[in-house]
Amino acid sequence: MGFKVVVLAAGKGTRFKSDLPKVLHKLLGKPMLWYVVKAAKEAGAEEVIVVVGHKRELVEEFLKSEFPDVKVAVQEEQLGTGHAVKCAAPFIEKYGGKVVVLNGDTPLVNSEDIKRLSETPGDMVVLTARAPDPTGYGRVVRDGNEVLYIVEEKDATPDEKKIDEVNTGIYAFDPEKLLEALDEIDNDNAQGEYYLPDVLKVFKEKGYSVVPVEALDFSSVMGVNNRYELSVAERVLRDRIVRELQLSGITVHNPDSVYIEPEVEVGKDTEICGPVYLRGKTKIGEGCYIGPFSDIGDSEIEDSAVVESHCWIRGALLKSGSSAGPFAKLRPGTVLEEGAKVGTFVETKKAHLERGAKANHLTYLGDCRVGENTNIGAGTITCNYDGFNKWFTDIGKNVFVGSNTLFVAPVKVGDNSITAAGSVITKDVPENTLAIARAKQVNYVGKAESVKEKLKKRKPDGHSKENS
Ligand code: UD1
Ligand code: CA
Repeated sequence: MGFKVVVLAAGKGTRFKSDLPKVLHKLLGKPMLWYVVKAAKEAGAEEVIVVVGHKRELVEEFLKSEFPDVKVAVQEEQLGTGHAVKCAAPFIEKYGGKVVVLNGDTPLVNSEDIKRLSETPGDMVVLTARAPDPTGYGRVVRDGNEVLYIVEEKDATPDEKKIDEVNTGIYAFDPEKLLEALDEIDNDNAQGEYYLPDVLKVFKEKGYSVVPVEALDFSSVMGVNNRYELSVAERVLRDRIVRELQLSGITVHNPDSVYIEPEVEVGKDTEICGPVYLRGKTKIGEGCYIGPFSDIGDSEIEDSAVVESHCWIRGALLKSGSSAGPFAKLRPGTVLEEGAKVGTFVETKKAHLERGAKANHLTYLGDCRVGENTNIGAGTITCNYDGFNKWFTDIGKNVFVGSNTLFVAPVKVGDNSITAAGSVITKDVPENTLAIARAKQVNYVGKAESVKEKLKKRKPDGHSKENS
């Protein structure tokens, strides 16, 4: 039988001390809520309903962009988790399957636990866990196998606080019985809230079955209530992602300093050296090398491409056998075709380097094409911006660009041409042409000594800086 998932995400998250609603705080580049909704979908939920409230326009905007099929229920006033579930009543009443409830601040929840819970028979199935430090959680009070009640930290007696079995905030319910029980709970407690876990007692009074299921791994069900816990959860998730990559055939050096976001893909036999950041929808092929101190986002690195250390790469495509760095900055729209190379202290933006083209050192290439096997000398700059508009530089194939050439765009250089070092190229250069655009050198033979003498005798005038 199918099941629906209700995610509670209306709370403010006071302990985050933030203008942003808690569930939108990110780990590995994605909001907590993203992970929860994703796990619900992966588990096979027929419908996911998110209860929103505090700054709901922000939460709804996020949901609309990432999960347009998710339903939204509104909790105008945050009167507690029990009240929050009630706000989703229109989506779950008369529903024949189970309803799984998740907290929006439990981002590591895995789809297997959700599935397992939805498949466990019982009117109320509650996922519990043994916590290394149970502080802050609701405690599960048992008599043998039977759960008697759940008590919140703030309402617990010193003895109850010693219990290390906690409520994960994850449950599966028979929806009709849940809604019935929600009508009977009160807010007579330390926080003056309608607690969802209080339905447990009502279920028992009514003779409905309550089944506890223990989570295998506490880290998957940890709640995130402040930024410290956010960092703990991020570390757990980070380790999971890195481990998965390692087991799928990727070598990761210095794994504790490797940050890889959940949508990044990496092919086998690639070598990743920490510290490194791989972000967004970055896709790395097989047999690549990613050097330390690099930060790569939303880019595609094809098989056997190399990113040396200290590269910053965004929105770029590095084709097979191309390479970047060390110390390269590749901005959006950069394309390195096969065997192309950008080297040390080179910045590129909307630069298309065709097969085998090279810019090895100290260069800015923006809004340009660099043709096949063309070599860009050190210090070359495409002057693409005149203060108002961006202009294009088109350089053909097999061109030798002398060091320190300036291309004042728009400008075009034909195939097989040469620009002399130090040239300021303002006019198009035809094919097979040597372009020299620099001041002519004049040699005054034997004049050096007399000039030195003259300079030695020169006295600083009133405007000169004092010699020190
Ligand atoms: C809750 C449980 C606690 C459990 C813990 C697990 C209750 C009363 N307590 O405590 O037993 O051990 O989770 O992590 O349920 N929310 C709303 N509307 C509200 C209040 C909260 O949507 O009126 C949402 C929050 O945004 C959050 C979730 O419900 O995503 C849990 O609320 P939170 O205040 O964090 O509950 P805890 O004190 O952590
Ligand atoms: Ca919480």
